[in-house]
Amino acid sequence: MKTLLISLLFIASNSYAEVFKNADTVSGKALVDKNCISCHAQSFGGDGSSIYTREYRKIKTSKGLLAQVRNCNTMIGLKWFEEEELNAASYLNKTYYKFTE
Ligand code: HEC
Repeated sequence: MKTLLISLLFIASNSYAEVFKNADTVSGKALVDKNCISCHAQSFGGDGSSIYTREYRKIKTSKGLLAQVRNCNTMIGLKWFEEEELNAASYLNKTYYKFTE
């Protein structure tokens, strides 16, 4: 019983949203670092990451996060593949948003 509880806790603390379960967060980070930071940093200062953690951030769900990544991606004309959008969103989720569903 104790073991079961511990494994459940372990699973819970490591699970991120289902949509990101096959995503590659490492390549997502590389994509975001390369393409996404400068503009956010211009508006929000520093490394721009406070755009993700600001009190009135717009994104409330993992699906919303994916949609916003797609919007910014389209706006700047990167033409990422869906998989790249997923990887980038997954990285942002793991690092900043931490949505579990
Ligand atoms: C040309 C400037 C620009 C670039 C480049 C850019 N963004 Fe954005 N991004 C914005 C602006 C402006 C907002 C805020 C929109 C708002 O507040 O309505 C935003 C908001 C966001 C948010 C939501 C923040 C919140 O409130 O939670 C995410 C996520 C995001 N961008 C991801 C990305 C990703 C991923 C890339 C790279 C593909 C990217 N952005 C590139 C301008 C940019």
